[in-house]
Amino acid sequence: MATLLSVDNLAVSFTTEAGCFRVVDDVSFTVTAGQTLGLVGESGCGKSVTALSLLGLLPRPAGRVVGGRAQFQGQDLLALTAEQRYRVRGNKIAMIFQEPMTALNPVYTIGCQLMEVYELHRPELNKPQRREAALAILHQVGIPEAEARLAAYPHQLSGGMRQRVMIAMALACEPDLLICDEPTTALDVTMQAQILHLIRELQQKTGMGVIFITHDLGVVAQVCDQVLVMYAGRSAEQAGVFDIFERPLHPYTQGLLSAIPRLERPGKTMLPTIKGQVPSLEEQKAGCRFANRCPRASDLCEQQPVVSLAGESHQVWCHHWRDRPS
Ligand SMILES: Nc1ncnc2c1ncn2[C@@H]1O[C@H](COP(=O)(O)OP(=O)(O)O)[C@@H](O)[C@H]1O
Ligand SMILES: [Mg+2]
Repeated sequence: MATLLSVDNLAVSFTTEAGCFRVVDDVSFTVTAGQTLGLVGESGCGKSVTALSLLGLLPRPAGRVVGGRAQFQGQDLLALTAEQRYRVRGNKIAMIFQEPMTALNPVYTIGCQLMEVYELHRPELNKPQRREAALAILHQVGIPEAEARLAAYPHQLSGGMRQRVMIAMALACEPDLLICDEPTTALDVTMQAQILHLIRELQQKTGMGVIFITHDLGVVAQVCDQVLVMYAGRSAEQAGVFDIFERPLHPYTQGLLSAIPRLERPGKTMLPTIKGQVPSLEEQKAGCRFANRCPRASDLCEQQPVVSLAGESHQVWCHHWRDRPS
């Protein structure tokens, strides 16, 4: 399948009162048409910043792309003018945000916003047909009384409902690339499954590529083909989803996996979790950023690890990936 997006050596800095920090450093990945790439890592690892930088949505002036390229359909997304970016966004690329309020316009009704999407993307539809399409997609994302919701304003809906409206709007665009930033975190499990199914369905129909950001490895197993595990703004491990679960090589990936509850684990044992936290920006030192939490850390880890190829498409950034897990 064709490569849809190719991100090379992306680097993003934030300037705060405490100084200037690399929050995303030398991150590379590709998204294939019809496939889903999972961006995984604990909170603060740089997943959202990576996504926002692709769309030119970093908070300015604090956040800035300081290196890298992002080739998408012959254009470098990181080098677009504001006008070019506007055309790509919501047309070729749609994003579902963690916080839905930011993506909906408070002064227009849901129906008005949704029908505007159809007006732009499906110009062959007349007004009653647009209304039908809007009702159908609201129904598909599990919004009850869709008819009444068309006349509602965003603030009249619950958070979970707004989230579903935003998902409906993103899917209505039938984008080539969909970026989902923890889209189902606020939804209950049944709703989550329904939304994931809907995304999958559209993907199969249109060949859309998806970047799926999550800290939930259970969701990764369900929806992703490729996985990039990030830690403190850097790549830790990248592989096909099967390898990530069956042959995790980075101690951080192994830690994340052992923190998932499993049915076969006897009832009352504690879940092993990774001790410590992602270092804050001020705490970041040279060398491997995971070293202070890593069971295998050694003096070697004072040097930043370079990438090792552990399989045909299995990359790992660790000095000790060949060692047996402790
Ligand atoms: N507006 C901002 N100003 C300063 N630092 C920020 C800002 N947004 C994010 N960061 C920093 O960038 C890092 C990555 O954040 P983020 O991408 O939101 O993490 P994730 O999505 O993986 O939870 C964090 O250390 C965070 O503190
Ligand atoms: Mg985030």
